[in-house]
Amino acid sequence: MAEATDFLVIGSGVAGMWFALNAARGGRITMVTKTEPQESNSRYAQGGIAAVWSEDDALDNHVRDTLVAGAGLCRRDAVEQTVREGPDRVRDLIEIGTQFTRRADDPETYDLHQEGGHSHRRILHAADFTGQEIVRALHAACVAHPNITLLQHHMAVDLITERHLSRRQQTLPPAEDVVLGAYILDLTSEPGAVEVHPAKATVLATGGAGKVYNFTTNPEIATGDGMAMAWRIGARIANMEFVQFHPTCLYHDKEHHFLISEALRGEGGKLVLPDGSRFMPEVDPREELAPRDIVARAIDAQLKRLGIECVYLDMTHLSRDEVAHKFPNIDARLRSLGLDMVTDPVPVVPAAHYMCGGVQTRLNGETSVRNLFAVGEVSCTGLHGANRLASNSLLEAVVFAHKAADTCLERLSSLPPPPPLPEWDPGSAVDSDELVVISQTWKEIRSFMWNYVGIVRTHRRLERALNRIRLVKDEINDYYWDFKLTGDLVELRNLVNVAEMIIKCALRRRESRGLHYTLDFPETDDRLISDTVLERWL
Ligand code: FAD
Ligand code: SIN
Repeated sequence: MAEATDFLVIGSGVAGMWFALNAARGGRITMVTKTEPQESNSRYAQGGIAAVWSEDDALDNHVRDTLVAGAGLCRRDAVEQTVREGPDRVRDLIEIGTQFTRRADDPETYDLHQEGGHSHRRILHAADFTGQEIVRALHAACVAHPNITLLQHHMAVDLITERHLSRRQQTLPPAEDVVLGAYILDLTSEPGAVEVHPAKATVLATGGAGKVYNFTTNPEIATGDGMAMAWRIGARIANMEFVQFHPTCLYHDKEHHFLISEALRGEGGKLVLPDGSRFMPEVDPREELAPRDIVARAIDAQLKRLGIECVYLDMTHLSRDEVAHKFPNIDARLRSLGLDMVTDPVPVVPAAHYMCGGVQTRLNGETSVRNLFAVGEVSCTGLHGANRLASNSLLEAVVFAHKAADTCLERLSSLPPPPPLPEWDPGSAVDSDELVVISQTWKEIRSFMWNYVGIVRTHRRLERALNRIRLVKDEINDYYWDFKLTGDLVELRNLVNVAEMIIKCALRRRESRGLHYTLDFPETDDRLISDTVLERWL
């Protein structure tokens, strides 16, 4: 058993690292991460971080834009907290060394981008590699901090709770469950050993679950591990039907995940069909800068109507200098693939991008299970409601991680040390000789999620997806206990849980709202304004 720590942080994206850095002011942190510390959704953020920054903007404007995008489901107090504390958190990021881009004509002033749904320019950015720059600064600060131990290639498998202990010791279950730490698979050893990591409080900062879909902007790590682990111990999960599809992922046979930032549309980019004609003006008065759900559905409708594989983003109004200065990352990647946005429109398709739902939390990141916190994309704080406003998620990650760190430090002296925890029980598991089962099942899930639980849904397709997932779940459960754990198997089991939660939430919402659009109930029904909450009775 590893030595007990004050706070076990699972995940090293912006949310996990920001929590760690702030909680390290008064506590000892063990931060585990399943690949390299810098590998996360955070790292690929392009557009930037939204915060009221210029004098012609106001907190009320940002609040209003967030509420409008959220289509009636945002928690107003979560929105107000995020918007109010946003500028201070951005100043904190600058203080630890994040270099945001300044204006070419006024180097004293930060350059502000505009994205869909924002009434004002308020997106601070580091050219078009904002995530990479924030992660660089945070990682350097965490590594230098004496109170933070960072374990890379360590994957959390399951949370350990009092209920779990009582089952192992055959005693009565507790009236209220408490999280005591987690089982962590050490991927640096061969075969992977499962370690016990006790902690006074545990923080899920595991990010999103884009990998549950065939087409996604997310990297390999985004398999919804935190959502699935929390679900398995009975934590409350909310609003999983609201999966955000980004309208413009690059369509190219050699590059499946690359995002073409919304900031390009903020700089005048137009969506066009293969014949060069535009279609957004007929769909929404905000045209290409309408919220993402509207733009993604409009593209999806054109793909289906014309039987084409992609539409195009036309940026040819920009000069080579402008492109090189504003979008060096996108420009370089496109050129490496033989594409040039200065001369030709860029082929794009929608792809799964962001989970608005997740582990339900209070305003300080606390979940429904004692001593378990969730911060960043894994959480459902109420900020995004039925649709996230662009560039609000990096902001949410730092604001809520900060609140969670403050709460954990306030409580530290009253948190008891965890009791001795049982070692992982491998049962009679043997080495698997059929790894193909994992890769095949993974492909199957991602494909039916894309086809049946995608941008436009129907009740019948959702029912079909649920039947498929039930079969797959039984198969994986058998497989899981028969064979020794590998990272792929842990992720597949989580992916199945996440897919099931998305489908169940989607089936429950008998209306169209924000990111959830179903042909059976195409209208929004204001009698149904409430979160879709899943709770597993144990
Ligand atoms: P992540 O950054 O995804 O970090 C999750 C961490 O958890 C990783 O370190 C991962 O390895 C680890 N982990 C996961 N499971 C386990 C496990 N079982 N055990 C151990 N470790 C685990 N948002 C914006 O606001 N602005 C943008 O411009 C923007 N652009 C984006 C562009 C792209 C291409 C993508 C994919 C997303 C973008 N987003 C943007 C969304 C935003 O980046 C994410 O929502 C946010 O960074 C999530 O941060 P996080 O810390 O919660 O999770
Ligand atoms: C983008 O740059 O388009 C992504 C912004 C976001 O997801 O918030």
